[in-house]
Order: sequence, then C-alpha cells, then structure tokens
Amino acid sequence: MKTLVLSDSKGGNTEKVALRIHQSLKATGQISNLVRVTEDAKIDLDAYDILFLGSPVYAWLPTDAMIGFVKKKMSDYRQQGRIVPASPVKKWKFAVCFCTFSGTHIGEEEAVVATRWLGAFAGHIGYRVIGYWHIAGEFHNRDDLNIKGRLGDIRGRPNARDLKDVENRVKGLIASLVHWQS
Ligand SMILES: Cc1cc2nc3c(=O)[nH]c(=O)nc-3n(C[C@H](O)[C@H](O)[C@H](O)COP(=O)(O)O)c2cc1C
Repeated sequence: MKTLVLSDSKGGNTEKVALRIHQSLKATGQISNLVRVTEDAKIDLDAYDILFLGSPVYAWLPTDAMIGFVKKKMSDYRQQGRIVPASPVKKWKFAVCFCTFSGTHIGEEEAVVATRWLGAFAGHIGYRVIGYWHIAGEFHNRDDLNIKGRLGDIRGRPNARDLKDVENRVKGLIASLVHWQS
C-alpha cells in the first residue's frame, strides 16, 4: 500500500514518532513517504491509501502549520467540488491521526481534541479513520510540568518503549488490512 506520514514537530518528539511510523511501514513492505507539513504543501492526498496525520499538541490543538495545511486543503477541495454532503467513504482509504502531548493538566483529554480535529478532516475527504494514537511527549525545558502532571513522570518521552509500541501498532494495523492489499 502507498502511505503518507504527514506531520509537524517543533521540538523533535513528534518527529521521532513519525520517523518510527515511516520506518515500520517500510519494514512491512509498504511504500511510505515521510513529509514535514507546511501550510502550502502541495500534496495529492488521494494518491495514498493510508494517511498518517500527526502533530504535537499545542494549546489543545495541532500546530499552526498543520491547521493551516488542513484549512488550505479544505478550501482547495471545496473549490474543486470535492467536499460533498455525507462525505462518501472512499474505497481502500484509511487514516490514522496521532499526536504527542504532555497531558500536564487534564491528561489524555488534551490529546483527544487535536487528533479528533485531524480525524474530522480525514473524514471530510472520504478517509476512514482507523486509529487515534496519543503518545506522551515531554514538555521541553519544563521539568516541573514533566513530573507533576496527570501522566506522572514523562521526562525523556517518547522513549524507546513508546517508539517500540508505535512500531507494534503499525505492524498490527498493517496486518489488520491484509485483505485490502493488492
Ligand atoms: C507552548 C506549549 C504549549 C503546549 N500545549 C500543550 C497542550 O495544550 N496539551 C498538551 O498535552 N501538551 C502541550 N504541550 C506539550 C507538547 O504537546 C509536547 O511536549 C509535545 O510532545 C511536543 O512535541 P514536539 O517536540 O514534536 O514539538 C505544549 C508545549 C508547549 C511548549
């Protein structure tokens, strides 16, 4: 399958996760394209069977670059008549929305809004969301927040174990789609 790992990262946490997704996809024999999002990135999303859309959580949402990209795409697609009522689900098109987050104040609730926001976009363009992955990421340069928050001690995360978990999730997801592969 042809897959796109499209994500943003300001401090490197989400970049680590995106890279591991990309490497794991390739290890399972998929074609994977790893792209850092920009607002005006020219990408034909329909060229991909699985989209991995990822961002760190900043103020409960994806980054400005990711939000800008999504808004621009929605605007372009609308103009092209590709956003239609009922958003018909396209055959063999799937999306996974992922984030890294610190969850300092209200835990995973802080991640849910961001990935659901990305999921709403995927749904609008006919992709079926088959995963919301929330991965703990340390709050850069704020050890007080890294120790006292609702996720407990998140210093150094995503760590090797988190990344192994991501790798396993990718493998499991690809295995689950075996009947969709040509
Ligand atoms: C200015 C700022 C705002 C943040 N806002 C949130 C937030 O609302 N919720 C949350 O869970 N984490 C928040 N974080 C923590 C980041 O989501 C977390 O550190 C993430 O792993 C950073 O990813 P990156 O290194 O890829 O940029 C914030 C961090 C910064 C610096």
